[in-house]
Amino acid sequence: MAEEMDPCSFTSFQKYTTKHLNLRWHLNFKSRIIQGSAALTIEVLEQKLSNLILDTKDLKIFKILVNGQKATFSLGPKHWFKGSPLEITPPFQLERGQQAVVEIFYETCPEASALQWLNPEQTAGKRHPFLFSQCQFIHCRSITPCQDTPAVKQTYYAQVSAPKELIAVMSAICDGDEPDCKDSKQRILQFRQKIPIPSYLIAIVVGALESREIGPRSRLWAEKEAIEKAAFEFAQTETMLKTAESLVGPYLWERYDLLVLPPSFPYGAMENPCLMYVTPTSIAGDRSLADGISHEIAHCWMGNLVTNKTWEHFWLNEGHAVYIERVISGRMYNEKCRQFAAIGGWNYLCDSIKTLGKTNKLTNLVPNLAEVDPDEAFSCVPYEKGFALLYHLEQLLGGQDVFIKFLHAYVWKFAFKSITTDDWKTFLYDYFKDKADVLNKVNWDAWMNTPGMPPAQPQYDTTLADKCTTLSQRWSKAKESELYSFSSADIEEMTPLQLIEFLSQLLLKDPLPLKHVQRMQDVYSFNAVTNMEIRFRWLRLCLRSKWDNAVPLALRMVTEQGRLKFTRPLFRDLYDFTKFRQEAINAYMKYKQSMHPCTALLVGRDLHLLQEELTAAF
Ligand code: BES
Ligand code: ZN
Repeated sequence: MAEEMDPCSFTSFQKYTTKHLNLRWHLNFKSRIIQGSAALTIEVLEQKLSNLILDTKDLKIFKILVNGQKATFSLGPKHWFKGSPLEITPPFQLERGQQAVVEIFYETCPEASALQWLNPEQTAGKRHPFLFSQCQFIHCRSITPCQDTPAVKQTYYAQVSAPKELIAVMSAICDGDEPDCKDSKQRILQFRQKIPIPSYLIAIVVGALESREIGPRSRLWAEKEAIEKAAFEFAQTETMLKTAESLVGPYLWERYDLLVLPPSFPYGAMENPCLMYVTPTSIAGDRSLADGISHEIAHCWMGNLVTNKTWEHFWLNEGHAVYIERVISGRMYNEKCRQFAAIGGWNYLCDSIKTLGKTNKLTNLVPNLAEVDPDEAFSCVPYEKGFALLYHLEQLLGGQDVFIKFLHAYVWKFAFKSITTDDWKTFLYDYFKDKADVLNKVNWDAWMNTPGMPPAQPQYDTTLADKCTTLSQRWSKAKESELYSFSSADIEEMTPLQLIEFLSQLLLKDPLPLKHVQRMQDVYSFNAVTNMEIRFRWLRLCLRSKWDNAVPLALRMVTEQGRLKFTRPLFRDLYDFTKFRQEAINAYMKYKQSMHPCTALLVGRDLHLLQEELTAAF
């Protein structure tokens, strides 16, 4: 078989692998720098090894020791998104099976792409600074030299020196603290992750955090101002965990803590082990958006135990997490809810493929990422095409219970490993030996390696979606003279998720005439809605109908929070609203400095202010 490669990494995971990572970090909030060392215990996998390459990005390397002896090293030229390869030559040769400790003394730069350093004014409490990391996909290399590929899994131990008045938490179990004898203003916290994890799951957050127990193995972390509301919103965490365990087996990570990030966090949530991250934009006050938690819970098995070997196989993480997330919602509520979520997912996929273009190779389930920045390739395709495939297989192979048993077996077959789509498929054929004829009917090439919508559209129960479909069709077909027929009663009995679906369906169609959206505001008062998923779709609808009034609201939304899912499309819509293009650009320029580095980069590209070649200098 051809040797697998990770196109996003410089390291050779077939030649050597990291078993353990020992981090010593001194955080300096004033200079926005982490100073410290990383000791990697590596194991040699080939006959003889005379040098090795690690990933780095914007790191200053001072000194490297291998088993305590000085090694020579050189940093290669900086690639615009992969960073620089760090080549290390130990003073002796290593042999197959041998372990060695590679200790690197280094510091990060203030622009490290994994980190956002917030001023006190950018926090809810306004008194203390805040720091958070986001390593997925390939930003871990900007905070520590490592084999920054999901093909490699290591345990880790960290000693973090942080200001005494702040709390530090990591994607690990806290192992105690001690005074920092070198810096009386700081103290050292220790963390231990005993389960081998890929580098993208290393995470650290430091701030004026408070906590509250929300379950027997779950504690909620947030700034004081946010904790009450969040504790209500996420109260069902333990029920979701138990439901997940009943599907895919025991939870191995000991703790499942939740952390609410500042509004600039670029994602909805992130499955960091022992410490799930969640955006404050999913706190609606009525638990309507809390189902995202079950997605992250699903990752504790799908992604964190069984991991995609490279980012080209990302659908293995996300497609399976979405599948399990929806089964959890089916079990906790009812099957109609699962079906409704699946319909929403299919429509989301239609919308994204329309935007990306149906011949765009990045819409393949298994894309080729050579020279592609995974942050830029990110879309709902691995989530929703992946889900559609798994649901399609569920239907072909005998239904939900049969398929869940397969997934249970899949998890424990590949737990602690990193796998490719081929490994998954081989196991599928092996598990369903008796149904090879059924499996052979699947058009694998169309599902996996062809852009655009999947070759088969699954049938879903439309009970909960019907209202949304009927109402969206009424609006898109209505003539101006018929607008009087709409009233607030239309949506009285719709749930927040149904309103989201109603608006999503309208966004799939041609823009509504201006008079229509104005009437919609009169009867439904969407401008006053604070549920961010509803607000986001409503503002997009208005911008696409070129309603001036929506512009200040949209500008407020993109500057008050930084979730990519909302911020990028809104900025793009503002850009396309020619009359306000300059205003959008001005807002971006004004806020760029205080934005998350990934958001600043991607929005800059969307607004055509940055070109790829310029990105390295950004
Ligand atoms: N792992 C992802 C978030 C992610 C993806 C971070 C790619 C960085 C790069 C996480 O599990 C996820 O899918 N989050 C969703 C929310 C979830 C509730 C479906 C998101 O951020 O939209
Ligand atoms: Zn996910």
